[in-house]
Amino acid sequence: MPGLEDFLRKPVRGMRDLAPDDFYPLKRMEELLSALAESFGYRRIETPAVEHFEVLSRKAGREIVNEIYYFRDKAGREVGLRFDMTVPVARVLSYKLEEPKPVRWYYFTKVWRYDEPQHGRYREFYQFGVELVGSESPRADAEVIALMSKALEAAGARSYEIRLNDRVGMDKILETMGIAAREEVLRILDKKGKVPEEELKALLKKAGLEDEKAEKLLELVSEPLPMGESAEFFSKYDERLGGKYAEIIKALEPYDVLDKMKLDLAIVRGLDYYTGTVFEAFVGEYKLAVGGGGRYDNLIELFSGIKTPALGFAIGVERLMEALNIGGSRPPLDYYIYPMTDEAYKVAVKLASMLREKGASVAVDLGELSLKEALEHAAKTAVKFFVIIGKKEIEKGVVKIRDMYRRTETEVELSRILRY
Ligand code: HAM
Repeated sequence: MPGLEDFLRKPVRGMRDLAPDDFYPLKRMEELLSALAESFGYRRIETPAVEHFEVLSRKAGREIVNEIYYFRDKAGREVGLRFDMTVPVARVLSYKLEEPKPVRWYYFTKVWRYDEPQHGRYREFYQFGVELVGSESPRADAEVIALMSKALEAAGARSYEIRLNDRVGMDKILETMGIAAREEVLRILDKKGKVPEEELKALLKKAGLEDEKAEKLLELVSEPLPMGESAEFFSKYDERLGGKYAEIIKALEPYDVLDKMKLDLAIVRGLDYYTGTVFEAFVGEYKLAVGGGGRYDNLIELFSGIKTPALGFAIGVERLMEALNIGGSRPPLDYYIYPMTDEAYKVAVKLASMLREKGASVAVDLGELSLKEALEHAAKTAVKFFVIIGKKEIEKGVVKIRDMYRRTETEVELSRILRY
């Protein structure tokens, strides 16, 4: 029987299978990051994978709308797979009006984007993120940014940077420079670092900027500034915004993360719902952003009709793991029990139950493998202790325990094995 064709044996393009060696490192990240979010007072949520297409598309932005997995269900409803969790959270809060503000929620879950698959770009991937809803305070900005730093640190990142910008700040800068085609200019700036400077300049000129303006703008976005200078920088364009950044800096100080942050005017962000602070996280030499976030003070109002300021971030879990070279193996089983006879099988199952009650992970051999084969199986699938129970052992009231790492074998009395 030829079976499935080769391409049908692999997941659909852009998707990944997670066998135990890949799944466990991800699960470990989930545990670490969830514990961190919980320790900051955030509580976990989940929403359906499938959303109304209209909800997804209202404020996503052209680029992302094109990446939505869109379909009609059997009743003809227009639906799509969520491309992030910010939009579903905004939808939930548009009817859960009684939820006390500020709301602190987090998630670790799958999202889908019909992106062009390549290194670090998948069509199904995990996001860990938080949403802090109902606060306008610069302290909320600081909390979320600091939490993103702590998340990167908890995952093991030592060298990382959070690059921050502000949508209002950018508007003021472009306005001051007399640049009208703002959206287009921002989209061009978003390409910085991805295409050569000359090409950026050409694109800006095509968007209607004179030589001098294009150069001045490129110079302005060329070098990130230390975060500590952001207040002074923005106050040149807008007094109030400068004041807001002075507050954000003040609130960030006690978190000890200011030195990891830069003001980078080239940070634009692809999503349309952002209204203020925007930021992205970079780890080591890894080129793609491992996380992004910002303020979206109008999105929830768009759904609920009630003005509700909010901000959050999401980290791409696969990207973070790639950037930190977190790779895989599954955790070993504590025991693999090998009964040699039918009588021994009964003892094995009873012993397994007792060990499980103590919290151990235990597999009992099914009687189809020879002892040699079972030992090979145990070595390949990772087992700490291989337990042999035969006729002789039952008569003596003992089991043979082989330590699979040290390659030693001992006899232990059945009555004492639970203490082993
Ligand atoms: P985002 O920047 O679109 O923001 O996505 C967040 C992170 O998800 C990215 O930094 C990246 O690490 C990861 N990511 C994005 N696309 C892919 C892909 N195709 N494959 C693998 N990883 C990817 C958001 O999603 C916002 N909802 C963040 C946010 C929360 N803003 C406010 N609250």
